[in-house]
Amino acid sequence: MKKKIFNIALVAMTALLLFGCGKKEEAKEEAKEAVKFEITTTGPTVDAIKKKGKIVLGTSADFPPMEWTSFQSGKEEFTGVDIAIAQSIADSLGVELEVKNMAFEGLLASLNSGDVDMVIAGMGADEERKKQVDFSEEYSKGQQVLLVTEENKDKYKTFDDLKGKIVGTQLGTLQHKFATEKFGNNCKGFDLNNVIIEQLKNKSIDAAFLSELPAKQFASITDGLVIIKDLGIPDDSGFAVAVKKGNDDLTGAVNEVVKGLKDSGQVDKWFDEYIELSNKEAMK
Ligand code: ARG
Repeated sequence: MKKKIFNIALVAMTALLLFGCGKKEEAKEEAKEAVKFEITTTGPTVDAIKKKGKIVLGTSADFPPMEWTSFQSGKEEFTGVDIAIAQSIADSLGVELEVKNMAFEGLLASLNSGDVDMVIAGMGADEERKKQVDFSEEYSKGQQVLLVTEENKDKYKTFDDLKGKIVGTQLGTLQHKFATEKFGNNCKGFDLNNVIIEQLKNKSIDAAFLSELPAKQFASITDGLVIIKDLGIPDDSGFAVAVKKGNDDLTGAVNEVVKGLKDSGQVDKWFDEYIELSNKEAMK
């Protein structure tokens, strides 16, 4: 009988001990997870990028002069103001630049999942996005405008004149959000700006709503398209580089580069240069 009680006590103690150990192990694992979480939630530090030897840019190369896909050299290449800024950031860190081209709508998810280290895509640093990611200083400001076919150029004086018309916008953009709130189902979303331009030319949509600089560029390289400004809509949010929320290290490094490029007038020079290049390529 005594032995039995002893046995039970032993089992109970062992169980307690094991349980206790289990708890400790669990706590250790949790601590490890927390460290991992810390790293993955704030993204790579400057040191981590240097060790990797490359910085990965996420962009949507359908937005000249900010970024577009060029085949001039015989192979697919990404070019534009944003790519030049990204290259400067890579150079300042002494690493290679890798460009991942994707649908605009997926860019911030890619940044948050760690698939890319930064996003530069003519992306406006608006309040909504600032809740999800951090932004550098802005490197460009502009308006939002309407792109229509020549014959409709006097038809739309205000945004309200578009009631009942089909307005094309790029999915995931501030323009898509704005136009959807205003026009509901009459705002049609597309993945690529090039497709929006095609739709406008073949009259499947009545107007395209996009950021001013790319709209100007599309109007300049496409026959029969004109820009309508001053529609009484708010200005576009200023473009900035997006990094993962809390990655102060990388944001600091990016800001230094962006500030230098702005102060030296290099960003403005690139605008002139890439507008001209995009025009030239379109003529070929
Ligand atoms: N500026 C707009 C926005 O931030 C549109 C950006 C689209 N960019 C692009 N690369 N297609 O929502």
